[in-house]
Amino acid sequence: MNETIPAATRLEDYRPPAWLVDDVDLHFDLDPAETRVSARLAVCRNSGHPGGPLVLDGQGLDLVSIAVDGRALAASAYTLDDERLVIDGLPDRCTLETVVRIRPSANTALEGLYVSGGLLCTQCEAEGFRRITFYPDRPDVMSTFTASLAAERERYPVLLSNGNLVEEGVLDDGRHYARWHDPYPKPSYLFALVAGDLVCIEGHHRTTSGRDALLRVYVEGHNADKCAHALASLGRAMRWDEHSFGREYDLDLYMIVAVDDFNMGAMENKGLNLFNSKYVLARPDTATDDDFVAIESVIAHEYFHNWTGNRITCRDWFQLSLKEGLTVYRDQRFTEEETLGSVKRIEDVRHLRATQFPEDAGPLAHPVRPREYVEINNFYTMTVYEKGAEVVRMLATLLGHDGFRHGMDLYFARYDGSAATVEDFVACMSEAGGRDLSQFMRWYDQAGTPQVAVEGDYDPETCRCTLRLRQSCPSTPGQPEKRPLHIPVAVGLLDGEGRDIPLRLDGEPAAAGTTRVLDLTQGEQVFVFEGIGGRPTPSLLRGFSAPVRLAYEYDDAELAFLMAHDSDGFNRWEAARRLAMRVLLAAVGTIGAGGEAAVPEVFVSAAGRLLEDPAAEPVLVAEALTLPSEDEIAEELAFVDVDALCAARFAVRRGFAEALKEALLDRYGSLAPQGGYRFDRDSMGRRRLRGLCLSLLVAAGDPAARTLAARQYEAADNMTDVMAALQSLRDADGPEREAAMTGFERRWRGESLVLDKWFTLMATSRLPGAVERLHALMAHPGFSIRNPNRVRAVIGAFARGNPLHFHAADGSGYAFVADRVLELDALNPQIAARLASAFARWRRYDGGRSRSMREQLERIAGQAGLSRDVGEIASRSLGD
Ligand code: TRP
Ligand code: ZN
Repeated sequence: MNETIPAATRLEDYRPPAWLVDDVDLHFDLDPAETRVSARLAVCRNSGHPGGPLVLDGQGLDLVSIAVDGRALAASAYTLDDERLVIDGLPDRCTLETVVRIRPSANTALEGLYVSGGLLCTQCEAEGFRRITFYPDRPDVMSTFTASLAAERERYPVLLSNGNLVEEGVLDDGRHYARWHDPYPKPSYLFALVAGDLVCIEGHHRTTSGRDALLRVYVEGHNADKCAHALASLGRAMRWDEHSFGREYDLDLYMIVAVDDFNMGAMENKGLNLFNSKYVLARPDTATDDDFVAIESVIAHEYFHNWTGNRITCRDWFQLSLKEGLTVYRDQRFTEEETLGSVKRIEDVRHLRATQFPEDAGPLAHPVRPREYVEINNFYTMTVYEKGAEVVRMLATLLGHDGFRHGMDLYFARYDGSAATVEDFVACMSEAGGRDLSQFMRWYDQAGTPQVAVEGDYDPETCRCTLRLRQSCPSTPGQPEKRPLHIPVAVGLLDGEGRDIPLRLDGEPAAAGTTRVLDLTQGEQVFVFEGIGGRPTPSLLRGFSAPVRLAYEYDDAELAFLMAHDSDGFNRWEAARRLAMRVLLAAVGTIGAGGEAAVPEVFVSAAGRLLEDPAAEPVLVAEALTLPSEDEIAEELAFVDVDALCAARFAVRRGFAEALKEALLDRYGSLAPQGGYRFDRDSMGRRRLRGLCLSLLVAAGDPAARTLAARQYEAADNMTDVMAALQSLRDADGPEREAAMTGFERRWRGESLVLDKWFTLMATSRLPGAVERLHALMAHPGFSIRNPNRVRAVIGAFARGNPLHFHAADGSGYAFVADRVLELDALNPQIAARLASAFARWRRYDGGRSRSMREQLERIAGQAGLSRDVGEIASRSLGD
């Protein structure tokens, strides 16, 4: 154990705050080199709670002065260390005034007040406010904020903070000021300010009850023509929350600011969202369909936080999923209902399996509600967000649409304006739905992905179909034993024609519906369906009704049958995926044993039928024909032979593409663009399938296909088609690739977000010479290790998206990434820690690789002065 790692914070140690803050008045004298922050806090004892001193968090602050009720405080009246200011012996209610100095331009961690390009901006979640001023920086302290910002007028003509603008004016020395007031009490993590030279694009929204809100998207002048989609998305999100949850916006002004240097996607600060510019800026020629969809969903996500996160916030950071899981669930539903339709669920499940399942199966596994953390920033994870959303979705499945809505209404009514817990939320659901959810609560506390194994049996004599369900869950760090969970398993039974059979469980008087949600609550349970006329094919876990691994012995013919007939769209795709996975896993086995991969006929013909079916929606065909990624395949293996895995996927993909060449070429031709770019489900689906056809054709190795890709690159009028061409050529060494890649870099070197796409293509290329390529990319004038988007586009993309070279047998990929972790740790620990987690699953690889990954982790852990972010990830990964 590295003794420099600070002690963990534990849920069981939670105590209500001894002091509350009624009101805060902040004054900022803004300057990038040195900013002066004056804070006036109206504090009072939290009645009914045991006493104690006033504890204010503060990090990296130069204390200039401190006064209570207008009188300077003697140095003996308080204690101050690196992390906090503690004042004892205060009257029960008083006014505390502090003045501190901070240095925004020296802030490379991008937490607190920092500089991004010409902007001064803040990021306070989770514990960034303490880098701005002394404050009880915990979410259960909610207060009304007023903020006055003063800055040089030329450089910072726009001055923004939360709420409403109440005053502005000119000062001497070329400075000006603005004063903002937010009437809604909020925790400090939702505070924000922005100062800079920005233009704004405006819109309006009239709520259902007739309230008018002004919507503004602030960007640098040269980006003014890339905001329309973000603004339109915001309007759709506002409308949807009114219709779906009866929630309206509650201020007169809603602002979004695009920031180039940003640690995550976006931040829901009250009335003033700050966004990674990647999730704002889009024009058809600069952003792909996936970018457009991601922008819409992040805009919606942050907007939905206004109710699930801001009006009702979290009591403490252990409850993070209370706002994040719930808000992800809401944004997923929004995107499904407004934009993507049924394919949204498929994409979300794919994402969950490729990112959250691995997390849940490795040394960093933790429950949706963790019980302890060293650095809270390390818990903004796939588990808290994505599995958290699955848990909320299961509640909606258990309660039904109306029951869930009632539960939400109750939650809003009961907890508006307060800081709540997961128990509070689940109690509302339990009350509204009239269901006992005490066992269900285990989903929040138990880590690991459960397995549900199903055996089916049919008795023609009695016309009964029996499903025997068994659940289990592997142990995870700190949780060797698991208890049974309450798992909703949605099932259907198909007759010989592929039609749904009306389902009647034994003991029921009549059939009720064709999809039934079985409540699996015990380790093993048997469900009997009556009146089944012939041997049915079960369709299990419809819509992916629970985040589990489902085991059932389907044979190939049954999977092909489900692919063709299941009324559940998700399970049609799932059948295709199972079939593909089976082929891939077999290929990994044979190649690992020195043999060759085979692409079975049943697989090719099922795919061919889908490709030629004029009735099949293009996007669903594309989803079904997209082979699982290396990560997804690795998840099915207990032990990963990287060479065999990469070779198998390559060979199967190539064989598959060769066998389908004619059909792919036909479909490619028939999907040629009709008219200009449109952002709608159908056009996106067509582009997606066309891109997939192209990449498979190139993968088949035919030089004519490379010409086709080169032609598409040249002819495309939108970034989606451009990227499809480049992605196809990424690993296809030759003049077509060279010309397209070079041309792209030349055309877009001045647009950092577009250049990131090129960085990622280069960093993920399977062509030899990866590490030299990475060094060249880092020397590119458009690269900066201080910018998180660049780091993700080059280093993150390599570590996560290039298994062949990251896991190179000579350890060069590992060494490169570990060097970057250490380099970044001194600059931006949050980003460094995320990168470090690429080593977490070192135990699953062969001896040499495993040793090599572990050595890198040890080298990282042993670094003097390591941040607690990286320290925690390294030590948990090593299993200390
Ligand atoms: N609350 C933000 C969201 O999910 C995410 C977030 C947490 C964040 N910490 C951050 C964003 C730090 C940027 C920087 O919407
Ligand atoms: Zn969020």
